[in-house]
This record gives sequence, C-alpha cells and structure tokens, in this order.
Amino acid sequence: MYVGELLKNLDRVSTGVPGLDDLIGGGLIKGRVYLLIGPPGSGKTTFGIQFLIEGAKNDEKGLFVSLLEHPKTITQNMLRYNFGLLNYLKSKRIVFYDLGEGVFRAGRRFTWSEALDNLLSIVEGEGIKRVVIDSFTSLEHSVLDPDYKRIALGRFVRKLHDMGVTCLMTVEMMSSERYTDEYYLADGVIVLHHFMRDYRMIRALQVLKMHGVAHDTNLKKIRFTDEGLRVYPEAPF
Ligand SMILES: Nc1ncnc2c1ncn2[C@@H]1O[C@H](COP(=O)(O)OP(=O)(O)OP(=O)(O)O)[C@@H](O)[C@H]1O
Ligand SMILES: [Mg+2]
Repeated sequence: MYVGELLKNLDRVSTGVPGLDDLIGGGLIKGRVYLLIGPPGSGKTTFGIQFLIEGAKNDEKGLFVSLLEHPKTITQNMLRYNFGLLNYLKSKRIVFYDLGEGVFRAGRRFTWSEALDNLLSIVEGEGIKRVVIDSFTSLEHSVLDPDYKRIALGRFVRKLHDMGVTCLMTVEMMSSERYTDEYYLADGVIVLHHFMRDYRMIRALQVLKMHGVAHDTNLKKIRFTDEGLRVYPEAPF
C-alpha cells in the first residue's frame, strides 16, 4: 500500500451532530464502522438520522436499517426537527430498509450471513455511502447462528471498508454492560448517557474509543434542539 493511498483512507465524514466533529479530529473516518451506545431515549435514532441527513446534503446516499421501529414511526418522530427528512426520502437520498418486518410480523429469523449479505447487496446496488443499523442489538437477537457473529461481522466490516462506506450501529445499553465482539471490531465507540443529579436529568456524550485520534474521554454536555442533538465542549454539570 502506498503512502498516498494510506492518507486517502483517512478522509473524514462529518457526523452531522454540531460540536461532535471537533472532538474526534474532524469527523468519522470514511469506510469505517462505529458504535453508538445508549440507554432508552438517549438520542440514538436521532443521531443516526442526523448522520444520514448530513450525508444526503452532500449527495452521499444513506441507508437506514430499522429493526424494532417501523420506518414510518421513525419518520413521524423525526418530523419535529428541521431536518427536511421528507425531501431526502422523496429524492431517495435516504432510504429505509425495514429488516424488522420479517422478524416481528412473520417471526422469521435469519442467519448472520443472510442478514449482512442482504445489506451489502443493497449498499452496492443503491450506491450507498452511509449506513445506520438501528439497532445492532435487535439484529443480534434475530439471528439463528449467534456463534458465527465474529466471522460474519469481520467480513461485513471489511466489505464496507472496501466500498468506502461508513457505518453507524446503535447498541442498546444494558445495566450489566459487557464488552462484546462489536466493541473491539468497531473503529470508534460513542456513548450517550442520561442520569439524575440533584433531581435534574443530565444528558451527556462520551467518546469512549476512536482509533487513530487523540480525544478526550470525559463527558460532554448534549442537548436536543430543533436541529437535533448538539454537543457542547463543556462538562454536563
Ligand atoms: N427537546 C427535548 N428535550 C429533552 N429530551 C428530548 C427532547 N426531544 C427529544 N427528547 C428525548 O429524545 C427521545 C427520543 O430520542 P431517540 O428516539 O433518538 O432515542 P433512542 O436512544 O433512539 O431511544 P430508544 O432506545 O427508545 O430507541 C425522546 O424519547 C425524549 O426522551
Ligand atoms: Mg431508537
């Protein structure tokens, strides 16, 4: 591999979340896979949509893979933000793929390969540049062959890398958090937190891991605005 090629591989893609790119060296690295972890209602889906909106603005086609929530519900919930989501859906710069349809309506489960190869063929066929899987946790619970996870994921990550496709996978935060395969496979892990302090709800973002970037791992204040999530450089309290 030549130096020019190595540097080209460090192209940055903006997260679409104001304030976040500055914390991670200018954005996510194109062609890599990132995890977004958070408890219920912490903003995972909102962040995922913002990430695709940012791509759509720059003519990068985005794929939103939904599992638990129906695409229609997600769209309705996002209408409260000034994202202009409907226009991007109409122009097909953002497309939904309802992977949960077969699982939750027909009770049909799939193998890791079936699910991920299916996604890869959509990515390739539609010229997708950004993918959001919401949530990876639901995907994992819908597979028939859990033991194959590391190999299937490793293959998926390499194919996305070859295609220069950046992927964000949301993960539901469990109270007894364990670091499983995806934490190690991912190039970056961003955590959304919410907790009570002095009878007040605190919302924060933490960059837990980001390969190749010197970053601060302390909690940063976040807020929901009409433009979606926004990160502030200061501590949340
Ligand atoms: N202006 C606001 N102020 C405070 N919280 C807000 C505001 N707007 C939205 N929220 C919170 O954001 C949540 C929705 O965010 P989102 O759906 O992105 O979270 P999520 O992490 O995907 O949730 P889930 O785990 O249920 O999928 C709402 O349930 C609400 O708690
Ligand atoms: Mg969600």
